[in-house]
Amino acid sequence: MPQIDYSQKIPNNVDLASDKRLQRALESWQPSYLEWWNSVGPSDFNTRDVYLRTAVDVGAEGWAHFGYVRMPEYRWGIFLQPRDEKRVIGFGDHMGEPAWQQVPGEYRNALRRIIVTQGDTEPASVEQQRLLGHTAPSLYDLRNLFQVNVEEGRHLWAMVYLLHTYFGRDGREEAEELLQRRSGNADHPRILSTFNEPCEDWLSFLCFTMFTDRDGKFQLLALAESGFDPLARTCRFMLTEEAHHMFVGQTGVARVIERTCQVMKDHPGKDVREYGAIPLETIQRYINFWSASSTDLFGAEVSSNSANFFGAGLKGRANEDRWTDHRAMDETYAMERFVDGKLVKEDVALRNAMNEVLRDEYVKDNEKGIEYWNRVCERTGVGFRFSLPHRRFHRKIGEYAAGHFDLQGKPIDEATWNARIAEWLPSAEEKAYVKSLMIPCVEQGKFASWIAPPAKGVDGKPVDFEYVKS
Ligand SMILES: [Fe+2]
Ligand SMILES: [Fe+2]
Repeated sequence: MPQIDYSQKIPNNVDLASDKRLQRALESWQPSYLEWWNSVGPSDFNTRDVYLRTAVDVGAEGWAHFGYVRMPEYRWGIFLQPRDEKRVIGFGDHMGEPAWQQVPGEYRNALRRIIVTQGDTEPASVEQQRLLGHTAPSLYDLRNLFQVNVEEGRHLWAMVYLLHTYFGRDGREEAEELLQRRSGNADHPRILSTFNEPCEDWLSFLCFTMFTDRDGKFQLLALAESGFDPLARTCRFMLTEEAHHMFVGQTGVARVIERTCQVMKDHPGKDVREYGAIPLETIQRYINFWSASSTDLFGAEVSSNSANFFGAGLKGRANEDRWTDHRAMDETYAMERFVDGKLVKEDVALRNAMNEVLRDEYVKDNEKGIEYWNRVCERTGVGFRFSLPHRRFHRKIGEYAAGHFDLQGKPIDEATWNARIAEWLPSAEEKAYVKSLMIPCVEQGKFASWIAPPAKGVDGKPVDFEYVKS
């Protein structure tokens, strides 16, 4: 496995120079990518020096190099985890066979669809976040936003590499399409609905990186098990980048909570809005919205697609090696289905429940984030406790989209839903208040009124470091 070659136009560790045709194809996609970045990425900041990390080694340790970079000059490249020559498929009907180095003909369409769906989320999130730079609460946060943006750009490169290398002409067409669809565009939207939701304020951004990027983590974990080896190796490296995005979300929301708790402590009985902080109830409603929307991304509870993907060895479970039966042929999954307005217990064939199995892991991970936020309340002596809405709450996809459910997952009628919606989801006034706080705060070392400074800076630098130069 060659080290990352930065002398190339497209940095890579896949020896791109030895495949001239592929190299030319990717080099001709590169200007289209930059055009996309310049038109719908964080384009107003393209001339600024940003303190960013760039991958220099695909190993688990020390893969990042930090330094000032102008975003359009970021070295987007193709980095795969080194190949394990002995790797065999770890689940499904092909279990034990050598992992595929080429796309098996019978799975070509399914694999392309999986890769395109994953790939589409990457530029979508950059588009959703494109204007946030104008209202950053600090230079530290501005830098984190841009780090997430350039890495989502790199994730797009990762998927486009697979499309160009393994799917011939239709792969190249799909790669073009990935730059054509637009988040929130009525005529040509992104594929998945969460990636068409507006993300116009920083509380939404922090919830997005907490909940939506975490969906990304679990999709990548499932694809990292794929029998198609290049996809598995690509996703393994993407996961190392994804961890930072979730860090931005989890610690970011924690800092918003910390600031509010501090104001509550210092000014008991007062409305925290008088001090420019965000009420904890509002934060909870943002959590409700973004966690529900992101929970949809796992797809339907009972899904023949998920069964086919698992059986074919295309998409496994997160950390497949922790399971005992990797064929999942005879087991069942105990599910509460929603039939004629009622919850009914049913044992579903496990392969058909693979979306739900992945969602279980996701929900568990989210619960840990909620506990982390509650520790912030505990530390400051504030009695409020956050909670994760039940997975049935406010769903648009799957079984539960057919009804209404409260935060505990209990079915309710439409009248009750309408009467209580303002309690559960952010109201227009609330959104307007959050928006009114979105005033840029980019003086070195300063933080906006609604967020506490982080515990420490990036890469051992102080919190008041000049993370983005003016
Ligand atoms: Fe990503
Ligand atoms: Fe991400």
